[in-house]
Amino acid sequence: MSEKFDGPVAVIGGSGDLGAAIARRLAKAGRTVLLGSRCPDTASAAASRLGFGISGRSNEEAAAAADIVIVTVPFAAQEATLSSIAPHIKGKIVVDTTVPLVPPRVMRVQLPAEGSAAVRAQGILGDDVTVVSAFHSVAAHKLIRDRTIACDVLVFGDDKSARSAVIELVRDCGLRGLHGGALANSAAAEALTSILIFINKTYGVDGAGIQITGKLTEPG
Ligand SMILES: NC(=O)c1ccc[n+]([C@@H]2O[C@H](COP(=O)([O-])OP(=O)(O)OC[C@H]3O[C@@H](n4cnc5c(N)ncnc54)[C@H](OP(=O)(O)O)[C@@H]3O)[C@@H](O)[C@H]2O)c1
Repeated sequence: MSEKFDGPVAVIGGSGDLGAAIARRLAKAGRTVLLGSRCPDTASAAASRLGFGISGRSNEEAAAAADIVIVTVPFAAQEATLSSIAPHIKGKIVVDTTVPLVPPRVMRVQLPAEGSAAVRAQGILGDDVTVVSAFHSVAAHKLIRDRTIACDVLVFGDDKSARSAVIELVRDCGLRGLHGGALANSAAAEALTSILIFINKTYGVDGAGIQITGKLTEPG
């Protein structure tokens, strides 16, 4: 896979905090964004609140009409949501943002039996879909504002070209995306989120993030 993906992007669960923030930043950068919800009316209302030409539809319709599908739902809703869009996303890139938090103990790392939410997503969707995971360490309440965020986004996936396409999306969101390697490595970023939540609480931080230090050269 080496094409450039500049077609429509679906944000599944885009009525929520992270999805709305990603949708808004992508649309503001000029991307065509289809905001999905289980309820098309909820999607349309959220889309018109966000502006920038975003349109709302059911999760299934948004997924079917997009080239890249970003999934932004709670861990408890991951399996049902992915199963609902699965018939519409064969051959596409799916960006899974799921952090496997298990309330009420969200400050404790509780990765699923599959090793990570991202690997679980690939298992649910099967090999016809290329899963990439990203956005785990960015606070939605910061992303929804028009301010620079001091946070890198680690991007994981077994297909380097698909990771590169997602890094372009991250760039359109105004953030630096970095290759984090194989999809299985997503476990590290997913686990780190519980630690960031712990740091927020312990040190009174308003949405701690991560930054990779050192001079990076573009990968070949
Ligand atoms: N919030 C953050 O700062 C942040 C940062 C990094 C990663 N994440 C991860 O990103 C994902 C989304 O987080 P969020 O805070 O945006 O979540 P959220 O606002 O709680 O929910 C997002 C959307 O998911 C859908 N949803 C909720 N419960 C559902 C259910 N039981 N079944 C099916 N769909 C359901 C809803 O959309 P409809 O009702 O419209 O269908 C909702 O608007 C999570 O996995 C989270 O861990 C969040």
